[in-house]
Amino acid sequence: MSLVTLKEILKGSVEKKYAVGAFDTLNPLMTEAILRAAEEEGKPVILMVIDHFFDQRSDHTVYYRNMINMIEHMKTPVCLMLDHGESYEDCMRAIHLGFTAVMIDGSMLPYEDNVKLVQAVVRSAHACGVSVEAEIGHVGGHETAADPEGSEVDVSGYTEPEMAERFAAETGVDALAIAFGTVHGKYKGKVNLDYARLADIRSRVDIPLVMHGGSGIPEDGFRGAVEHGINKINICTQMLVSASDAMNSMMTSSGGKAGFIDLYEEAHKAVREVVKTHMGIFGTQPLGYDRPPVYYG
Ligand code: 13P
Repeated sequence: MSLVTLKEILKGSVEKKYAVGAFDTLNPLMTEAILRAAEEEGKPVILMVIDHFFDQRSDHTVYYRNMINMIEHMKTPVCLMLDHGESYEDCMRAIHLGFTAVMIDGSMLPYEDNVKLVQAVVRSAHACGVSVEAEIGHVGGHETAADPEGSEVDVSGYTEPEMAERFAAETGVDALAIAFGTVHGKYKGKVNLDYARLADIRSRVDIPLVMHGGSGIPEDGFRGAVEHGINKINICTQMLVSASDAMNSMMTSSGGKAGFIDLYEEAHKAVREVVKTHMGIFGTQPLGYDRPPVYYG
C-alpha cells in the first residue's frame, strides 16, 4: 500500500536533515504529473488539495476515490493531504474520503482559538490514524490564485520561537508550518529567509517543520532552509507558471497551430520537471519501500 500518513512520510527527515516536497494539485493533469514524477524518481511525495478547490466538483467522492486508486497502485509512498483546511468540518470530510493528512489553518485566529481548533482536529484525526499539520505565525500572499504582481513578505507574521514551542506542545500536531520570510504566490522583491529564527524554532521543537510559499525561492534558499531545519516544502505556483510558459511557447513556436494533445503533453512534462527538480534540491530520501511498480511500471 503506497498511501501513507504525513507522520510516516516525514519519518527520519528531522534527524537526516532533508525535506519532502508537497505539491498542490488543481486538476487531473497535475495529479498524474506529480505522481508520475515521484514514481520515476522513486521518491516519496505529498500530494495536496487546497481546501478552496476541495469541494468544487459535484462528483468529488468519485474524483478522490480515483486519486486514491492511482496512489494505491504506485510503488513509491504518497501522502494525500488537505492543504489549508478552513474548518474542523472540512478536515473531517477529507478524512472520510480517505485523505491521510490534513492541515488545519487557524493561523489568522488569536493564539488560544488556533490552539482550540487544532486540538479538536488532532483529537479526531489521530483517532482515525490521520496526521495533522497546523500553522503558527502567518505566511501571507495568495494561496489560491497567484497575484501576477506578487506579494511582499509581512514581517509582522513571522513565527515567535517561544510560541511555536508552546503551540506544538499544547496541540500535539505532527508537523508545524512556520513563517520566516516566505509568501504564497510570487515574491515582490528579493527573498530573504530568517535562518536564525528557523534555527531557534528547530532547537525548541522536535516535529517536522513546514515551509509554505516555496515557489520563487532560489536554490540556495531551499538548501539553507533544509540545512536549518525545514522538512516539508509546499509548492504550487511554480507548477502553474512552468506549465503555462511551456504551453505558450509551444503555441508561439507553432504559429498558433499547436494541437490539444501536444499542449497537454507539454504541460504534463513541465509539471513533472518542477517536481523532479525540487525533489533533488530538497534532498528527499526514498523510504525504502520494495514493492514492485504497478501503476507506472
Ligand atoms: P506557492 O504557491 O508559493 O508555491 O505556495 C504553495 C503553498 O504554500 C501551498 O500551501
